Amino acid sequence: MISLQVQIAAYVFASILFILSLSGLSSQETAKKGVVYGIIGMIIAILSTLLGESINGYVYIIIAMVVASIIGIIVARRVEMTAMPELIALLHSFVGLAAVLVGFSTFIDPASIKLEGAEKSIHLVEIYIGILIGAITFTGSIIAWGKLTGKISSKPFVFKVKDILNVILVIAVIVLCVLFMQDNGDNAMIYLYIMTGIACIFGIMMVMSIGGADMPVVISMLNSLSGWTAAASGFMLGNDLLIVVGALVGSSGAILSIIMCKAMNRSFFSVISGGFGQEIKTGKKLEGKVKSINFEEAAEILNDAQSVIIVPGYGMAVAKAQYPVFEMVEKLKKQGKNVRFAIHPVAGRLPGHMNVLLAEANVPYDIVLEMDEINPDLPETDVAMVIGANDTVNPGAQEDMSSPIYGMPVVEVWKAKRVIVMKRSMAVGYAGVENPLFYKENTDMLYGDAKATIIKLNEGIK
Ligand code: TAP
Repeated sequence: MISLQVQIAAYVFASILFILSLSGLSSQETAKKGVVYGIIGMIIAILSTLLGESINGYVYIIIAMVVASIIGIIVARRVEMTAMPELIALLHSFVGLAAVLVGFSTFIDPASIKLEGAEKSIHLVEIYIGILIGAITFTGSIIAWGKLTGKISSKPFVFKVKDILNVILVIAVIVLCVLFMQDNGDNAMIYLYIMTGIACIFGIMMVMSIGGADMPVVISMLNSLSGWTAAASGFMLGNDLLIVVGALVGSSGAILSIIMCKAMNRSFFSVISGGFGQEIKTGKKLEGKVKSINFEEAAEILNDAQSVIIVPGYGMAVAKAQYPVFEMVEKLKKQGKNVRFAIHPVAGRLPGHMNVLLAEANVPYDIVLEMDEINPDLPETDVAMVIGANDTVNPGAQEDMSSPIYGMPVVEVWKAKRVIVMKRSMAVGYAGVENPLFYKENTDMLYGDAKATIIKLNEGIK
């Protein structure tokens, strides 16, 4: 057992470690250190909570921790890098569910029933908001998991009266809150049940109505919501550390959502309101000729080029092609060519996905550039080589106002003198949008699995 003072000191120390962890995670060079700070902070947080004065039932806690740890280790070991966002979405749903359960158990806790006056009102508001955010996070995250795994269509699901229904649900939640606060008898629990049901429906509708291209923002937004959910649980349980950590996750997730919205030229409001008042766009039907080349021809084009910009995407991650890609880069650099990478902020399936893969293959950071830095250089570039990217190089985002991704900034590969697109077929990318790039005069398709293709291509590069 530790005293309250020791516990508070431990909480402050853990909070500092979490802040250091977040700052470490903001750059690739310090990311590992950031993870270590986070792990130490979490160990201190768990131990100081478990050893606190009011904790009992250690047998149950230890059994739950052992079982959960085993499941966690197995799942984390098995999960592919490309499936990480799905796992994160699922974990967010657990945070939401936990907050709902904490809310209900706090409500029926004898200690909270004894509260009076303003203290009671504040406590009831904490419970109501905690359950509300928790339930939205729970169902919203499950739908996000379904969309990311492909179990639910990534197309936005919109029906005519959706906006009106949303407004009615919001009004119902406010009315129920007033009734809940004023109730002294048994009905309070019924109001809580109804509000939880409404919040669950709201979470489902919010994420269902968001299209594939906006999903990265939704994931970071759910991340933020899970943080606020944890903070709400902290208020309910009177746990300061949970409030601090929840606020850190909530605010960093919100900042990331805003940065992503800017990167994708979306309004934060339209994303968080679930496409409120938006029309569904489908994009122009594409017609024309698509040309394809073989390895020898592609190798020749690269041998003749002086400058090459490589644009990796989700397909490179799936194929695990980063290692032969680096080999190719080294060969081209030995020939004295200027070879660089262009990274779109939402390439792949999680923030920083491409940077992590390239770092894994030891690609030097100085040739890996952000989209905004490298876009102006594309018109002077001999070859733009697209490896398993699709939505992030779609010219429809600039040229077709009816495209669902119109307005999203993209890597302007079509401005290069020649474009080689490496993918297995003419299939669409995550957003489900046709790509006019494949029909451009200066584009050649090189079909096949990215890794196998690059290995063969490397044989032809001098
Ligand atoms: P996508 O647009 O998803 O396109 C990837 C392409 O890779 C597909 O068209 C696919 O075509 C090809 N591919 C798949 N497996 C391959 C393989 N083994 N070898 C070669 N090619 C392969 O990728 P992107 O350009 O990276 O864009 C990312 C998309 O995901 C954006 O819409 C973004 O909004 C969304 N998203 C991003 C995130 C984050 S945070 N980054 C999170 C969720 C969603 P084939 O089937 O024809 O091969």
